[in-house]
Amino acid sequence: MATTADLQRLDSAHHLHPFTDHETLRREGSRIVVGGEGVWVTDTDGRRILDGMSGLWCVNVGYGREELAEAACRQMQQLAYYNSFFKTTTAPTVQLAAHLIALAPPGFSDVMFASSGSEANDTAIRMIRHFWALQGKPEKQVIISRHGAYHGSTIAGASMGGMPAMHGQLHVKLGGFHHVMPPYAFEYAEPGEDEHDFGLRAARAIEEAILEIGPDRVAAVVGEPVMGAGGVRIPPSSYWPAVEAICRHHDVLLHADEVITGFGRLGHWFGCEALGFTPDVITCAKAITSGYQPLSAVLINKRVAEGLMQGGEFFHGYTHSGHPVACAVALANLDILEREGLVERVRDHIGPYFTQQLRTLADHPLIGEVRSFGLIGALELVADKATRRRFAAEAAVGIRCRDLCFAHDFVMRAVGDTMVLAPPLVISEAEVDELIRRIGSVLDRLHEELQAPPVALPLAGSLTR
Ligand SMILES: Cc1ncc(COP(=O)(O)O)c(C=O)c1O
Repeated sequence: MATTADLQRLDSAHHLHPFTDHETLRREGSRIVVGGEGVWVTDTDGRRILDGMSGLWCVNVGYGREELAEAACRQMQQLAYYNSFFKTTTAPTVQLAAHLIALAPPGFSDVMFASSGSEANDTAIRMIRHFWALQGKPEKQVIISRHGAYHGSTIAGASMGGMPAMHGQLHVKLGGFHHVMPPYAFEYAEPGEDEHDFGLRAARAIEEAILEIGPDRVAAVVGEPVMGAGGVRIPPSSYWPAVEAICRHHDVLLHADEVITGFGRLGHWFGCEALGFTPDVITCAKAITSGYQPLSAVLINKRVAEGLMQGGEFFHGYTHSGHPVACAVALANLDILEREGLVERVRDHIGPYFTQQLRTLADHPLIGEVRSFGLIGALELVADKATRRRFAAEAAVGIRCRDLCFAHDFVMRAVGDTMVLAPPLVISEAEVDELIRRIGSVLDRLHEELQAPPVALPLAGSLTR
């Protein structure tokens, strides 16, 4: 049996991690996770880690669900793979498409599968642009997105997203994307501006962009109902209904990227229902299988579907589109979510409890804002509570906080100095209490460290990762 040190050595020697500074990682070594049960994962040293992030916003039904393993095993034994390219398909693929449409908001009719959120978004971009070309409007191609949005890591996903660091490394960003102000009051609201008014102002930024580019050139507006990887930016309730009205007025499609918000995270099957709008296109992934298999889907409404079907063959798809094992696991996962009432549990019970407990951290001297929706939350770390001034970027306070959390055996992720949480939907009240207690002690420890006079560090930058 390989030891932790053996695995760390091999990891350092051969494995490139996503979104990682390898120089630092290789100096410090990775923590190797080997097991999971409920909201807990275990590492090679036998330490139990409370997972406040559901892996990567995906393990909604929690770890260790044997029936998902059994669903995969049964499907692999019966038929491990077949494709849907040449007038063929498989039973779980068809059943899942029908099930997703039954769960989707009214008006949705068709589903195309892929394996990741990024691929789903690439698919949606191709569908939307092709739809307009088939409508006789080939110049209607620009997609409006928001600064700070995350739509994936493929070239199209990163171009559509609004992450400056990712744009920098694209070197040649794809054209046809335009970014506007996000509905992120903590950074963008004017002092004293009412939340409702700020939401309308952020929506107007979209309309201004449509008018500037020209409605006959704008294909779609894309957005995460609640921006996740950009720092759990929760829009005011006035925002999405206004954005939807603007899209309808200018005949621009609305694409909800529900890769994080789909399947119960916000207390509804889809986040758009929680935020009060109906899009034309939904992309989803992650919790569609609770992360037990890679799978994603693009859901389109009748108008988009009928438009696309007028165009003969749509030259798009992946080897693993509608993979039978992934679809069988997704069906079993949806069954758990439905049978255990986990979506309603977030809306009526554990979501409000999480919000109430998270708010107890609001008085901490390091916290400038606490916000949450369903089972997603954020804490803004600030240098000055009264003015909400942020720490200098070089201090990497968010990363220090994240590393302290990990050292205290729980996961809370840092997006700059915004700490984000998205625990599994099965988290108990006692586990919420434990999570909040651990966050409280990490914040106290971090506060003490930040008050202490600086000491010379043995390794430059060793605290920053
Ligand atoms: C909103 C959103 N869209 C797209 C993606 C990309 O998904 P994937 O990493 O599966 O490609 C993510 C990933 O976190 C996401 O949060």
